[in-house]
Amino acid sequence: MTYREQHQSSITDPETFWAEKATDIAWFNSPKTILSKDEHGVSRWFADGLLNTAYLALDYHVDNGRAEQAALIYDSPITSTVKSYTYRELRDEVAIVAGAMRRQGVGLGDRVLVYMPMVAEAAITMLACARIGAIHSVVFGGFAAKEVATRIDDATPSLIVTASCGIETDRVIEYKPIIDRARSMSTHKVEQCVVLQRPQHLCELATNTDISWQEFIENAPPAACVPVKATDPLYILYTSGTTGQPKGVVRDHGGHAVALKYSMKAIYNVEPGDVYWAASDVGWVVGHSYIVYAPLLAGCTTILYEGKPVGTPDAGAFWRVIEQHKVKVIFSAPTAFRAIKKTDPDGEHFKKYDVSSLQSTFLAGERTDPPTYHWLADLLEKPIIDHWWQTETGWSIVANMTGIEHLPVKPGSSSVPVVGFDVKILGTDGQTKKTGEVGEIVIKQPLPPGCFPTLWNDADRYQQTYMSIYPGYYLTGDGGYIDEDGYVFVMGRTDDVINVAGHRFSTGEMEELIASHVSVAECAVIGINDSLKGQIPLALIVLKDGITDDGTIGTEIVQMARRDIGAVACLRTVITAERLPKTRSGKILRKTMRNIADGESYTVPSTIDDPVILEEIRQLFDEKLVSQ
Ligand code: COA
Ligand code: AMP
Repeated sequence: MTYREQHQSSITDPETFWAEKATDIAWFNSPKTILSKDEHGVSRWFADGLLNTAYLALDYHVDNGRAEQAALIYDSPITSTVKSYTYRELRDEVAIVAGAMRRQGVGLGDRVLVYMPMVAEAAITMLACARIGAIHSVVFGGFAAKEVATRIDDATPSLIVTASCGIETDRVIEYKPIIDRARSMSTHKVEQCVVLQRPQHLCELATNTDISWQEFIENAPPAACVPVKATDPLYILYTSGTTGQPKGVVRDHGGHAVALKYSMKAIYNVEPGDVYWAASDVGWVVGHSYIVYAPLLAGCTTILYEGKPVGTPDAGAFWRVIEQHKVKVIFSAPTAFRAIKKTDPDGEHFKKYDVSSLQSTFLAGERTDPPTYHWLADLLEKPIIDHWWQTETGWSIVANMTGIEHLPVKPGSSSVPVVGFDVKILGTDGQTKKTGEVGEIVIKQPLPPGCFPTLWNDADRYQQTYMSIYPGYYLTGDGGYIDEDGYVFVMGRTDDVINVAGHRFSTGEMEELIASHVSVAECAVIGINDSLKGQIPLALIVLKDGITDDGTIGTEIVQMARRDIGAVACLRTVITAERLPKTRSGKILRKTMRNIADGESYTVPSTIDDPVILEEIRQLFDEKLVSQ
């Protein structure tokens, strides 16, 4: 079947389509009910199926001829380590950690918060949770204590698993003090914290509440796989919304396993036994889906890379990993390749390696800008595939489905709707836009398997934010258009979310933080273009009457953002303005300011309170942004 035929059948008869795909995984109890509604009226997949995701990812392969194949290769240039785990070894380690968790009292439905660097134990912990039906909530290691505390209070975990440190190129980042601070800030108290002591930095452990990883797993009885319902949660992954309260995206077991396994062949065109490398972090959705779960569900070898695209040790790092492990498909963010391009524009490092194993490169996290696309395509002379997805969906919404039919690439577009996703463009009036017209990108319900069925503890917010604005559709929060060939062009967020180096942050959250500074009367944070990171935040502040800026306020705000959100948010530019441009009803004109900062044309809104302010802002940006 061609791509279009498959897509059509997945839209006209999703139940038959996904019932057939579901036969591709080894259920403990195959589902009879394919699509149904839960008590909130949300569509759910495979409700009466029983399975275990860790079984499918590990034991199934051990029992079916892959026991001695490499399942996971931990490659860490910053610690000079390469360690390979066969499927049997990984299954055994996971079973022991699962047993240790159970011995600690963690059971079905309990939450485990994971705050770890890119070490194999992070993936092992996630799979161990899946094995006993516990729900993991991984928090990206670059987040500060306050962010961790918010997640502890929302997920109310019974256990935290962390490490003594992360390593950022050549700097040791102590994780334990961050966790200690988070634990003291949170209302929910977590009694036990497991700490992986890394030789690069050993931390102190509190006698009653901390336990080292070694002690934790010592003599732990291996745990068997617990059958769970397809609709039981596998994990909660927090993502930025428009406020300081992050959204706990819930992923359930059944749809996730079916969709991810399907995606490995249909989208990435890999077979069992192939080496697949998602150069991301387990703290983000790409890491969950394509470092840990999908490659293992598909019987591939996955690479867990603890390093950067440049500086560990140089801009040849990615090519070295591809050569050394014979990577067939690499998946990363455009920003990573921009970093390589910036350091090694002529590909001098690239020339030193044999990347003939590589079939294609997939990019996501932000739109692939055509200059990066062309640079990479010319260098590699292999397909470069941009694909668009979100934490909420867990797999891509728009992609070139290379395992079904490799369609021509259009630079600037992430190609066509993935099988299962009925993508439409709506105007704010809810009417479908014509071909080529920009509007809100929405997906007609039901969402396919793998997409989030709810937000943790907040079924109402799920409906209000995503499902009820355009009834019958899921609102993605991205704007864009579909061209005459059905290619989707994603133009960027329509809300207060920005993407910094492929990582998602809320400008609303940054504003809430900055507004708490004692000297700030009001503020606005906008995402502006950055040649390396795609977007970076820019804060505009108006000081309270009588306060003069002696140059320290901006520095204090930058420090606040590093302390409370994390350095990874990259809030480094704070500009003091006399006043902010607003509509007559008091809404700050953030989009217009963004256009000005990016040097784009803009129309002066008819609702503006005082047009002169825009000119003031333009002059301010000319002066301050050019001088950076
Ligand atoms: N733990 C602690 N701190 C972290 C961290 C982590 N896991 N990850 C990043 N940080 C810190 C960095 O040390 C840096 O701190 P600094 O301001 O004190 O120097 C800050 O957060 C910003 O980090 P980063 O975004 O990594 O910027 P960089 O300038 O060091 O590197 C890139 C730039 C492009 C190389 C890097 O952003 C990158 O590799 N991006 C790829 C992103 C990616 O894979 N996205 C996945 C989506 S698919
Ligand atoms: P996250 O949930 O962190 O994966 O971020 C999802 C957001 O990243 C999307 O809503 C988009 O704004 C952006 N994004 C991800 N991939 C792409 C892409 N290929 N093209 C354009 N935007 C993208």
